[in-house]
Amino acid sequence: MSPENRTSPSMTTAEIRHQYNAFASWYDAVEGLPELLGIRRLRRALLQRASGATLEVAIGTGKSLRYYPPSCQLTAVDVSLAMLRIARQRAARFGLRATFQVMDAERLAFPDQHFDTVIDTLALCTFPDPLTVLREMTRVCQPKGRLLFLEHGRSDRAWLGKWQDRWAERHAKKLGCRWNREPLALVQQAGLHVIAARRTFFGIFHVIEARPASPTRVTAHEYAATRASTQNGESHAP
Ligand SMILES: C[S@@+](CC[C@H](N)C(=O)[O-])C[C@H]1O[C@@H](n2cnc3c(N)ncnc32)[C@H](O)[C@@H]1O
Repeated sequence: MSPENRTSPSMTTAEIRHQYNAFASWYDAVEGLPELLGIRRLRRALLQRASGATLEVAIGTGKSLRYYPPSCQLTAVDVSLAMLRIARQRAARFGLRATFQVMDAERLAFPDQHFDTVIDTLALCTFPDPLTVLREMTRVCQPKGRLLFLEHGRSDRAWLGKWQDRWAERHAKKLGCRWNREPLALVQQAGLHVIAARRTFFGIFHVIEARPASPTRVTAHEYAATRASTQNGESHAP
């Protein structure tokens, strides 16, 4: 499968909104398995790095909420009102002050350089146009701010990557999740400056920290080196 096909949208934003509105009450139960496979631990570690005025795009049911440092002033957006309602209830349970807005991450209604930290977890697979979202996230981030990502994508194990390719269309039909995208390549393509990137769990889960400017890029060699972190859990700072 060509890289272009891996990024091509499976659904329109309206269809995604409809699907997630219908699926919202099931989301936490279905996502329980990836959480147990390591996502929860990665989420906790990543979100500790958030600070100041923080934006989370596509927050879903708010699975990240419990991990934000109390000093963060959080704004959260999603296209699905049903998902956002669950996130809002969750924030209330944790006594967290946050602002929730229904908004398309491809057209963020915030001024340039508005946030200190901009976050996306497990949604680059779903956006119809992930590059536009990444550029919007970059636009609203302060030049010295951080962009934090916890994503899943195509495995770097040949057999598993091919298996994902084979079933990608069928999988994407349910919730628009294109599981064979390449998150780090997309972040680089959008022009972000990658500070650290590592992948775990058969090379499927990615943790990426980036800055808006792009003075250097991760080389193909450095990207390949991230495979080693699957075994030893190290970060790689290009
Ligand atoms: C797989 S869920 C991830 C939810 C959450 N970030 C998490 O880690 O559990 C994908 C989310 O992306 C949202 N989404 C998809 N396209 C979007 C868009 N263009 N703008 C904002 N949210 C979007 C969906 O409504 C859904 O809540």
